[in-house]
Amino acid sequence: MSKKIFSGVQPTGNLHLGNYLGAIKNFVDLNNDKENECIFCVVDLHAITVKQDKDKLRQNIRETAATFIASGIDPDKSIIFNQSKVHAHSEGSWILSCMSPMGWLNRMTQFKEKAGKDKEKASVGLYIYPVLMASDILLYDTTHVPVGEDQKQHLELTRDIAHKFNKDFNAEDFFKVPEPLINKNFSRIMSLKDGLKKMSKSDPSDLSRINLTDSKDKIINKIKKAKTDSLPIPNEEQKLKDRPEAQNLIGIYSSISNQTLDKTLYEFGGKNFSDLKNQLAEILLNKISPISDEIKKLINNQDYLDKILIEGAAKANEIARKKITEMQKIIGF
Ligand code: TYM
Repeated sequence: MSKKIFSGVQPTGNLHLGNYLGAIKNFVDLNNDKENECIFCVVDLHAITVKQDKDKLRQNIRETAATFIASGIDPDKSIIFNQSKVHAHSEGSWILSCMSPMGWLNRMTQFKEKAGKDKEKASVGLYIYPVLMASDILLYDTTHVPVGEDQKQHLELTRDIAHKFNKDFNAEDFFKVPEPLINKNFSRIMSLKDGLKKMSKSDPSDLSRINLTDSKDKIINKIKKAKTDSLPIPNEEQKLKDRPEAQNLIGIYSSISNQTLDKTLYEFGGKNFSDLKNQLAEILLNKISPISDEIKKLINNQDYLDKILIEGAAKANEIARKKITEMQKIIGF
């Protein structure tokens, strides 16, 4: 069955292996299925929920688009655009925020994490960020949303908002209720320095993540320095319990090699982590370095990237404008 796919990535720099394995790699597989209609969005409106430097933001928008293309998304097949250029996203977000109970937003764990201890200083935008995400998804009659595990709660909120709008305005099936597509085993890639923390762009330690633009030497060095424990690699998944760093490295190896955890444990059970690390570094160099080289090439071709984004925005606008016009009619504008 053909799927309507929508997903987004924030242009906040340092796109890393977690973004790739948790999301972008799946975008590529979905793009490659002829049946699917895919839209991949550089979510710049989401990025400004925390302070950004305007020159860096402009650069990161292009770099995120370059990462999509360098990873294998074909701009002739999938729509690639940046969110701020399609105004329906903001309009839809306002309308949806007026019918989303605060109680629902108060439950969002990512806001609590990102706002930290001083919630009073967090922007209002950061608080209603998940409603903008719902607008992104619902405007395109999206059926499936590929994301990492950290976005699951936002997807549940999107589903709740869709149901509520349809019910409140007696508009059965107006919004499609989308399904999340979350990779079961490898949906949460953890920091290389602390297996209990998510690999993240904002971690102050660069050694905690593999950036998609890292040089070969950096990748080798980061894997060498990745935290492990002193026990050998087990041969059963059960025995990875309470060994978060071991679990993470085995997970990353399995995911990047497209194989099950069981197969990796069969290959490496009884061996030391140095064996796994050597092989992991080699696979990462094979898979990530070509992407990295391509990103660097594309970044130097600004005109090409801008053309893709402008053409993508025109196509997205056509779809989103129709939906927002219908939405306005439904609510009485
Ligand atoms: P963002 O930019 O934080 O992350 C982009 C994608 O990468 C995934 N991800 C991870 N997956 C596994 N392990 C990790 N350590 C890891 N870190 C990040 C995220 O789950 C995400 O899929 N709110 C979204 C962007 C967004 C969006 C949307 C997504 C805006 N509108 C509509 C889907 C549909 C975000 O901040 O992702």
